[in-house]
Amino acid sequence: MLPNISQRFSQETSGLDDLFTLSTQKEVISFAAGYPATDLFPKKQLDNAFLKRTNKKTQQFYQYGSVLGADNLRSEILTKIALTKPQITLDNIMLTQGAQQAISLLAELFLDSGDGVVVEGPTYIGALEAFKLKQPTFHEVNLKSDGLDLDQLENIVKQYQIKLVYTIPNFQNPTGCCLSLAKRKRLAKLASRYNFLVIEDDPYRHLRYAGEDLPSIKSFDETGNVVSLGSLSKILSPALRLGWLIADQALIKQLANLRLALDCQPSNVICEMVEQYLSDNDLKAHLTQLNQAYQAKKETMVQCLKKYLPSQCQFTNPQGGFFIWVTLPKHIDSHQVLLKNKMVAFIESQGLFVVSQQKNHMRLNFSNVSDKQIKKGCQALGNCIKEML
Ligand SMILES: Cc1ncc(COP(=O)(O)O)c(C=O)c1O
Repeated sequence: MLPNISQRFSQETSGLDDLFTLSTQKEVISFAAGYPATDLFPKKQLDNAFLKRTNKKTQQFYQYGSVLGADNLRSEILTKIALTKPQITLDNIMLTQGAQQAISLLAELFLDSGDGVVVEGPTYIGALEAFKLKQPTFHEVNLKSDGLDLDQLENIVKQYQIKLVYTIPNFQNPTGCCLSLAKRKRLAKLASRYNFLVIEDDPYRHLRYAGEDLPSIKSFDETGNVVSLGSLSKILSPALRLGWLIADQALIKQLANLRLALDCQPSNVICEMVEQYLSDNDLKAHLTQLNQAYQAKKETMVQCLKKYLPSQCQFTNPQGGFFIWVTLPKHIDSHQVLLKNKMVAFIESQGLFVVSQQKNHMRLNFSNVSDKQIKKGCQALGNCIKEML
């Protein structure tokens, strides 16, 4: 007989089942998934990088590699993409299967059942799913327009034993907000004072269309209490499944040991190909092109929301990333909007607030839809919400 698995996998519905049903219908416009634009992948350059590398390399190309990922690629990522602080060296970076694997590894290493975890309210559903497998005690901290409410966080860490604080500092998923510079400094200090680990999950960092870049939380970390995560998924291609984790060397060693028991290492073939891509191409120019395209899509969605949503709704106007966060009047449940409108898929809010379960928000993604779809979709949503008022 199979062992009882019901304890480990939640029986509750997150609403995603209805969403996926809706998304499979042909005529549905999807503002749901956080996919980068398919037509902006640098396909030719990636194909060329693969062919060049496989021609240049010996049979070794198809061999096992290092648990941390190839040295050359780690070095390229540190200098060209991750940009944390000069003291960070090759011993501080491990390549992962996307940022998602980094979150899972950290959850596996740090959490036991009942341990305290602080997340933003709302937050990224994939991180919640990874943490939930360890059955922790969740605490939810409110998000303000400049990120986490750190007074509320400090009260929580004074009162409870907290092991992990998970935050998305740039163009947060799902709200699009950024953690201010002052808060980045203060969070690093709090982590060290109250001895918790901050997971700084930062896949949207380079997708800034306006405003100034902000230093990472990790750059203010003096005590090894911050782990910074990055990914190529949103800036190059999610199919590469390549992300990274930057941490103190001792922690990297423990994570590497854990990783040996799971998937051993990142794909050597992908590491080689990406290294070739980075040496042959101007990543900055690619990012400029992406940001111009995403900014235009965002502007279109903002204009359409202004035009079609009733005045009782509020929405964010992010300076980067993939998402706009809409707040509906309190009595409107976004799950009902999803079911009723039948034309537009989006992410409803209840499952993104792990404690407060707020229902009256919607996450709208604009990165992988056309202007025509954005206009049609926003109009349909506006009409549906007006009928529900
Ligand atoms: C905040 C955040 N973290 C992590 C991920 C996972 O990304 P990856 O493809 O690098 O695993 C996503 C993807 O949507 C995300 O939005």
